[in-house]
Amino acid sequence: MNPLSRWLNKNRSAPVGTFAPLQADIHSHLIPGIDDGAKSMAASLNLVKKLKELGFRKLVTTPHVMVDLYRNDADRIKSGAEALRKALAEAGMEIELEAAAEYKIDEGLPVLLEKGKLLSFGDNYVLVELPYYSPPLDLKEQLFALQSAGYTPILAHPERYVYWHREFPKLEELKGLGVLFQLNTISLSGHYSRLTKKTSEKLIDAGMVDFLGSDVHNSQYFPLLEKAMQEPALKKLMDSGTLKNHLV
Ligand SMILES: [Fe+2]
Repeated sequence: MNPLSRWLNKNRSAPVGTFAPLQADIHSHLIPGIDDGAKSMAASLNLVKKLKELGFRKLVTTPHVMVDLYRNDADRIKSGAEALRKALAEAGMEIELEAAAEYKIDEGLPVLLEKGKLLSFGDNYVLVELPYYSPPLDLKEQLFALQSAGYTPILAHPERYVYWHREFPKLEELKGLGVLFQLNTISLSGHYSRLTKKTSEKLIDAGMVDFLGSDVHNSQYFPLLEKAMQEPALKKLMDSGTLKNHLV
């Protein structure tokens, strides 16, 4: 091999062809009609089919729970998941479906925690998200309360919070408090913004990403997932050995 082809070979990163090594996706909005995700059972089945085709054998689906918009409780989520499992069985689609939630850190969360009504998955993981305009004033207290109750918080898409795009140490601080990080795969496609993509790559380079999540709400997410699969940073992350998706 001449030096040029050796160099080209070394620097050509083969795209990610499948998410099968992850085994499980841990963030999606697949239960019909309970948040801004799937709007009908037919739409849900289509999303699950596409996720299965991408290689996932298990889906932990995570409807929004937020006090001012989606007041989903554990019973509603569980019965929605049961209906989806039934429809999947009727359609002959084999895939493991588990329901948890994406809890917004707001004034409703301590109430749910107090009642012992949180839906967790894996090793007592609870997926949490933050407001998009400013971080909650009681963020650290709320995270500590979750941890004191035996949960491990996973922060959904840390790369998407604009107020930290130029404050990377804030993300490092959260990591230092024992919070796990879930990157949205499509952030690497550049879909949200250039800075979201840049922050994603920075988190990957720093070895700070614990989980990947599709955050699928509708079928428009799939071309973006495919675009992200072409990104060398995704390949790097999937080869890094830091991801825990397969453990849930
Ligand atoms: Fe989400």
